[in-house]
Amino acid sequence: MEYKTDLLILGTGIAGLSFAIKAAGLGSVAMVTKKDKTDSNTNMAQGGIAAVYDKADRFEYHIADTLTCGAGLCDDEVVRFVVEEGPERIRELVEWGVEFTRSASDPGQFDLGREGGHSMRRVLHAKDLTGREIERALHEKVSRQKNIRIFENHIAVDLITKSSVLGRKMERGDCCLGAYVLDIASNEVHTFRAKFIMLSTGGAGKVYLITTNPDIATADGIAMAFRAGAKIANMEFIQFHPTCLYHPDAKSFLISEAVRGEGGVLKLRNGDTFMEKYHPMKSLAPRDIVAKAIDTELKKSGDECVLLDITHRQEDFLISRFPNIYEKCLEFGIDMTREPIPVVPAEHYLCGGVMVNSWGETNIERLFACGEVSCTGLHGANRLASNSLLEAVVFAHRAFMRFTGIFPGVREDPIPIPPWDPKGATESDESIVVAHNWDEIRRCMWNYVGIVRSDKRLERAQRRIDLISREIDEYYRNFIITRDLLELRNIALAAKLIVACARMRKESRGLHYNIDYPEKDDRLWRKDTIPACEDLTAS
Ligand code: SIN
Repeated sequence: MEYKTDLLILGTGIAGLSFAIKAAGLGSVAMVTKKDKTDSNTNMAQGGIAAVYDKADRFEYHIADTLTCGAGLCDDEVVRFVVEEGPERIRELVEWGVEFTRSASDPGQFDLGREGGHSMRRVLHAKDLTGREIERALHEKVSRQKNIRIFENHIAVDLITKSSVLGRKMERGDCCLGAYVLDIASNEVHTFRAKFIMLSTGGAGKVYLITTNPDIATADGIAMAFRAGAKIANMEFIQFHPTCLYHPDAKSFLISEAVRGEGGVLKLRNGDTFMEKYHPMKSLAPRDIVAKAIDTELKKSGDECVLLDITHRQEDFLISRFPNIYEKCLEFGIDMTREPIPVVPAEHYLCGGVMVNSWGETNIERLFACGEVSCTGLHGANRLASNSLLEAVVFAHRAFMRFTGIFPGVREDPIPIPPWDPKGATESDESIVVAHNWDEIRRCMWNYVGIVRSDKRLERAQRRIDLISREIDEYYRNFIITRDLLELRNIALAAKLIVACARMRKESRGLHYNIDYPEKDDRLWRKDTIPACEDLTAS
């Protein structure tokens, strides 16, 4: 079946939804999401959205904190406009019905939280369920717009470009025409033809064994964009969140940095504090420093976790400020008001992604990218906490401004798009291959391409991922596609891109730490890593 729409949006997190709400005024919008429409990384965001609201705060301070965190790789101009346009975008979210927590002493003001790397209180939040509140309000707004249709349980297989239709190699000025999309329930692949395509598919958490991300974070947008010929950058900058709940039955539950912002202190299992050895901001140091410090301490002590202690704060305060974390910990028998929370670092955020300009455009015409899938220049080598929701709304707006300018002049490309060709694929009788490779990639990435890297570990990772990728490609060619197989193919490609970028960067900077090059090298490496197809071929 062929669907036609003016705008195709892949993903239903904050980036896709806020873009859809605006763009629907101009034309028809189809949104594709592989699970339920509320399954997104945004929905899981606890901390909040950073912006200058405090009277004592200044744009210059937020800019300086972002640049310091980004370790020399941020794009100064991008940082400036994201910070300066932030408050306006937040006013818009409030207008759309998002209810951020208000200050107890002055309900006219927002309650501003503090997180690692921020010199001021500037994190707007909805208790510790900020993402869920944003998604609630945006979905309500979308549901009132007739021009938007959401396709749940549909997963994009690949982007369709003019060169792919003509059977040519990607060339300059190539243009995106839509995407092939699998309807998971019926197992049919449909063609979605669109004048514009927005990738807002989120990050790549599931590339790693331990992650704070939900199951949907399988790097689909990045992998599809790379296969289509889009430029991908800085994939080595994987942010590990220092504090994920450590419990055998807890699946990737984040303990927000806001807990440390409200006074939580990291301790070893014997009760000793340790962050003073690593940074003057102690437990509130930037994330890369805290995660690396925990990793070092765990390797030294042989313990499996460290502790996060906030028992010195009032019980009432903790329950009202962190209702979600409090309840979740209780489910696992941990009362955070009386005992410290066991925590470990976990993959949390991808700072690299599909390269875009200041208007969210990729190097492929009519293909935009926004949110965690994109690499805008805001985060550089390390993202400042709570800057990601901010980036998503600012870039969704900028992409909309660009879209407004070009949409009226664009006609549908008359080139016929062939329907999806399964090429004689048959039903697989060996699903174990998918399950096994899935597990192997994630374990390999966790062990060899984690917080502390070395040339040897990266080489090992590349050899293994190459081998697994060849097996996956063969499987993909021969068997009928399923959601699991598509996701596996995508995490394998994302893993290759991460390893390729990590091997290129012969220095340590921000989130990339290689013991063979422990220093930052501004002379040679103050630049992005942009892998080409050749960089991904087997060693
Ligand atoms: C957190 O709540 O700690 C996460 C916030 C973020 O990653 O920006």
